[in-house]
Amino acid sequence: MTKTIIEPLRIKSVEPIRQTTREQREKLLEAAGYNLFLVASDDILIDLLTDSGTNAMSTEQWAAMMRGDESYAGARSWFRFQEAARTLTGFSLVFPTHQGRAAERILCAVVPLKGRVVLSNGLFDTTRANVEAAGARGIDLPHRDALDRHAPLSGGIDLVELEGALARHRGEVALVVMTVTNNAAGGLAVSLDNLRRAAAACRAEGVPLVLDACRFAENAWAVRRDEPSEAGRPLESIAREMFDLCDGFTLSAKKDAIVNIGGALGLRDPALAARVRDEMVRTEGFPTYGGLAGRDLEAIAQGLHEVLDPSYLAYRFAAAEYLASALERAGWPVIRPVAAHAVYVDAGAGLPHLARGDLPGQTLACALYLAGGVRACEIGDLMFGGAAPRKQLVRLALPRRVYTQSHVDWVAAIAAELAAVRHLLPAMRIVREPPALRHFTAELEPAGPFPDV
Ligand code: F0G
Repeated sequence: MTKTIIEPLRIKSVEPIRQTTREQREKLLEAAGYNLFLVASDDILIDLLTDSGTNAMSTEQWAAMMRGDESYAGARSWFRFQEAARTLTGFSLVFPTHQGRAAERILCAVVPLKGRVVLSNGLFDTTRANVEAAGARGIDLPHRDALDRHAPLSGGIDLVELEGALARHRGEVALVVMTVTNNAAGGLAVSLDNLRRAAAACRAEGVPLVLDACRFAENAWAVRRDEPSEAGRPLESIAREMFDLCDGFTLSAKKDAIVNIGGALGLRDPALAARVRDEMVRTEGFPTYGGLAGRDLEAIAQGLHEVLDPSYLAYRFAAAEYLASALERAGWPVIRPVAAHAVYVDAGAGLPHLARGDLPGQTLACALYLAGGVRACEIGDLMFGGAAPRKQLVRLALPRRVYTQSHVDWVAAIAAELAAVRHLLPAMRIVREPPALRHFTAELEPAGPFPDV
């Protein structure tokens, strides 16, 4: 057996990427205020900032785009989108949106939220921002030690805490949101058992359960692999049960629909759906296109079908595992089990000479860029603020079907070089920050020079 990942695809269209020198990168990073969101993509060699919207589409998706019907209302492409979404999710009321956060915003506009509470296994930052903008409080109830347990499928909600919170806030809980996979908690997947129990707890209290379904296919794969009762079950059936357990869903198609833009909102309640239509006409567009072109709807319909291909998902998990193992061999602690969409490095543990307030995640992200033109994303106190205790992580997200094994080898080699000088990596501090979602635009500076590797 060779230990080689066979990408289940061949390359038909290529896009050049550019090497820069260390000297150039030093200037570029300083000009960007040591914030990698502010570096131009042309100045990046391997871009692991996000798996969102960075996917390579298939020949079938490009072909489907040519069939896009750009009629304003009732386009053929809308019917194809609706059919694909209905077949996958079982929801009959599905609305396209321009991306996931638009679905979140619309949901937060039609569900009364002011003065209420939203409970979750882990709200993504845009979901939290939408919940809070609508006047509600978002409360995360992940398993307390999820990131330390290294247990499979530990991305779910703490059921004891959920029942306690539902009782304590009786009458105030507007929604429970289950995020699959749990991007805020190391990308850990959520078991069907946890979803079933959360759904039962919600039903008992009459609280609607909403699925943040961004990475539903990757979650379904992890369930089939790691949940003994689900071994061998068809992925479509696992995914379907995840949706069946919920009263609504939001979806960023930029993840598991393998497209570059798009999203969806699904509901069961016709009265709520009527309010969504009104809200959409005012903000996103007519409900049969929702801010997307007909061709985008076609690409999503095809992508929703392709993503559950077992050979694709096997490759996706293998690529993440390959990167994670290489990082561990180099001495970097990673969160296990490894998610498919990203490898999360525990920069706090990997850089013990830095305190939490030194933003070790941002230190490592900047070091990866300076050493090898690799762009990753801090997920720690820079992203979330310093309030809650949390690990200082760096996420190396893997765009779908974009990079080959040799690209991953490059990232691993850079990380290994950095590991040898890790004790020399400097603290970071924020010099300017906006009032909300600060990691996108904050400016920082290092406390000293980065070692030259
Ligand atoms: N929910 C989750 C779990 C997400 O990871 C994201 C986006 C969204 C909602 C919002 O979707 O971007 O289409 O508006 N996550 C990206 C990321 C940005 O890098 O993890 P969107």
